[in-house]
Amino acid sequence: MRRPLVAGNWKMHGSRAEIATLLDELMQVDSAKTTAETVVCPPFVYLQDAIRRLKESTIAVGAQSVCAEPIGAFTGEVSAAMLKDIGCRYVIVGHSERRALYHEDDHLVARKFVAAQSQKLTPILCVGETLEERESGRTEGVVARQLDAVLTVASVAAFADAVIAYEPVWAIGTGKNATPEQAQAVHAFIRGRISARDDKIAGGLRILYGGSCKASNAAEIFRMPDVDGGLVGGASLKSEEFGRICASA
Ligand code: PGA
Repeated sequence: MRRPLVAGNWKMHGSRAEIATLLDELMQVDSAKTTAETVVCPPFVYLQDAIRRLKESTIAVGAQSVCAEPIGAFTGEVSAAMLKDIGCRYVIVGHSERRALYHEDDHLVARKFVAAQSQKLTPILCVGETLEERESGRTEGVVARQLDAVLTVASVAAFADAVIAYEPVWAIGTGKNATPEQAQAVHAFIRGRISARDDKIAGGLRILYGGSCKASNAAEIFRMPDVDGGLVGGASLKSEEFGRICASA
């Protein structure tokens, strides 16, 4: 049995005060909820505040990115060791906004994945196709390429302690989520690709859906056999909404 996971990706939103309020509300909602594991990913500068505030709670904290290099002259970057040092448990790698806006290619994403694991952080590896790629029938090819880049650098064994998030780019922040069937098809494809190398690891691997996930569509998407929870952007900034998404996982 895979334990469902719901992660909130807060992107570049919030202030100290807003995040404190949101976390307090989430802790109340979380204690009333189900079996799903909850992770929140605030901006770097608020990670430590969040970790302190959540000390007595079961909500884990993740970062939204990490440097691929371990230490050195990389102005503006944050290393995996630093994230580990302050008590982070997860880190998102390869989010489509990082890929598109900051030119992170498959190989860099793979190196970030390895950097995270080198410090025993659990990477949440994002993969997904653009609308144009989907419409030209290249969804599986793109997702395979993104996955294989990590498999090449890290090997399949690394997926024993990793999470994958399938996030179709056309669904992120657009209000237009994938249908449960569309999500299931790609999730099954991802699991199959891992399974071809190691069936046991594939069976335990949590694959999250992300892209306009909200309380009104989460339950039907999470019900699909290969969907193990969600990576939630906009809807994770509202405690009541995010709580309902967590409860449906
Ligand atoms: P969204 O973002 O839920 O706002 O579509 C998801 C994500 O980018 O992780």
